[in-house]
Formats: sequence, C-alpha cells, structure tokens
Amino acid sequence: MSSFDELEQIREQALAELADARTTAALESWEDRYLGRKGEITQRARLVGQLPQEDRPAYGQRVNEIKRLLGQAFEARAEEIKRTELATQLSAEAIDVTLPGRPVIPGHLHLTTQALRELYAIFGKMGFEVYEAPDVELEAYNFDLLNIPEYHPARDMWDTFWVKDTGEESGDRRLLRTHTSPGQMRAMRERCPEPIRVILPGKCYRYEQITVRSEHQFYQLEGLAVGKGITMTDLIGTLTQFARLFYGPDKAVRVRSSYFPFTEPSVELDAACIFCHGAGCAVCKYTGWLELAGAGMVHPVVLANGGYDPDVWSGFAFGPGVERPAMLRYSVEDIRLFYGNDLRFLRRF
Ligand code: PHE
Repeated sequence: MSSFDELEQIREQALAELADARTTAALESWEDRYLGRKGEITQRARLVGQLPQEDRPAYGQRVNEIKRLLGQAFEARAEEIKRTELATQLSAEAIDVTLPGRPVIPGHLHLTTQALRELYAIFGKMGFEVYEAPDVELEAYNFDLLNIPEYHPARDMWDTFWVKDTGEESGDRRLLRTHTSPGQMRAMRERCPEPIRVILPGKCYRYEQITVRSEHQFYQLEGLAVGKGITMTDLIGTLTQFARLFYGPDKAVRVRSSYFPFTEPSVELDAACIFCHGAGCAVCKYTGWLELAGAGMVHPVVLANGGYDPDVWSGFAFGPGVERPAMLRYSVEDIRLFYGNDLRFLRRF
C-alpha cells in the first residue's frame, strides 16, 4: 500500500472511530491516538523525510490537510458530546416544579392558653381588665400582706418553693408565688384610690406531690373588684355568670362557705361533677361536686394593706385554677397530661 493510500485509510478509520466516540473520555483517547504527540498523524508527518524527494511536498500537504480536517471533526464531535452530556445531566437532575410541596404541619395553641383566652373574653365582657404580676414574689406579698403572718397555720395550705440567695436580713425573702392572690395587693397599691376590676392570670408553684388532680405548676386566674357598695351578691353573680359562660347555661354550680385568711366571709365555688353529674363517684369523692374556685369578700386587713379604707371601700376576690376547669369542660382525666408534652393529647384540642 502506498504511503498516500495508507494516509487515506488512517483518515477514514479515524473519522469512523470519532463517530463512535460517545463520551468525553472516549474522545480524549481518540485525540491521543490520532492527533497526540505519538498519534498516528503526528508519526506520519515525521515520515516525510524518508519519502522519495518528489513525493514529499504532496505528502506533507496531504498530512497537514488531514490533520486540520481531523482537528475540525474532533471539535465538532466534542461540541456534540458536550451537549448530549449536559442534556443527560439536566434531565437526570431535573426538579419538577409541578410536584405538590411537602406539607407544613402548623402548631396550635396549648389547651391552657386556649382556656386562658376564653376566660379573658368571659371576664372582659363583665368589665375586667388583665393585670400581670410577677412569678417570683416577695414573701410579704404572697403571705403577710394577705393576712397570713409567719406563724399562721393557714401557711400549711401553700407548701412553698423558696428562692435561694435573697436578702433574708432585710426581711424580703423571695419565693415562687403559691397563688395569684399577691397580685391583688400589687393592683391595689398601684391603683389606690381608684376602684378596681381586674383579673390576674399566672402560673403558680407549690412544693407538692404530683397526682392525677394536682401538679406542682399550674395556672390560676385571680379576680379582684374593689369599689363602694360591692357585696357578696356581686361576687356570687359574677361567679355564676363565669360558670354559665364557660360550661354552658345548664351546668349546676353551688357556693359553699369556706375559709381563706384574706377573705371574709370566704366561699368555694363548686360545679356538678362531669363524670357522675352529681350522682357521686370516685373522682368527686362521692360528693357529686368538684371545686372550681376559692373566693370571698376582701378582708378589711387586706383592703387596708392595699391602701383602701375598709369603712368606705369593699371588694370581692376569686381564684379559680385554669387547668382544673379545663379538665371539667373537656373531660380530661389527668392533670399531668397538660405539661407531659404528649402530642397525641395536645392535638386533641
Ligand atoms: N388564693 C387562693 C388559693 O390559691 C384562692 C382564692 C383567691 C381564695 C381569691 C379567695 C380569694 O387557694
């Protein structure tokens, strides 16, 4: 075979192989084989010197032509392969923007918050405004000023979490409030000598055994009204209205006499047991009734501590829990469920 024929044969073979190259890698090895430093064409170009004198110009020219031609074919093929590779990559990594989004699971208000808000609305209708008082309280506000001096046996009703490192020398020991009643004193001292009608929501803390019915942290919603000519009838009317609006008009409630150091007379508001509807069961200790709130007429000593002359002013106060009424309303059988963080429970409301 003449050197010329051989050249043409290499050209044909190179073009055929190029057409078969499918990947960048195949392309690179093709380039090495034909156009690289040790490639077929490069080697042929070096052969020129061994040819008969008369053939050299034509051969050299043809080698150069083929080199250029293969170079162009290579560029074109490289471009094609790049395009198909990009297309495959794009379709493999495609994002389908028409797919439905992942659902966002929205949270909702905790049962306690829902109950609190409902209570705000109920008492708001009766003209009570929300008044906030601190969780960490002075002993004086939680006890002494509410007519519960240190020796008073009634302190046993409120087992207390004391706060360490507070100025015991200066006599202002601090504690986690055991009830929302200290807020009464704060409202009176701030508002005196104006009449008052406030509710004081807040968390209370008691150093107590946790049971089905009592937690050591829970909410109360204190109420306080101070004015001229306020009587027990106003208190009972307010409590009855609260029970009607919170439980519905059919709910039986009763007021029974009780004792608190800061109210005189003191009462307790009961609602018919939701489990036995008054017949008597283990939950209501066979009385047919469940306690909703302590209440009473503000004690003259407390009025005076708040700055109001008890001969001129009178008032009532009440202090329902928040979880307990919610339990009655939604038939929640265990108070520990409120803060147990079990979503199966929380999602029910
Ligand atoms: N503070 C009382 C308690 O925690 C409840 C109460 C409030 C009683 C207001 C009378 C008046 O038990």
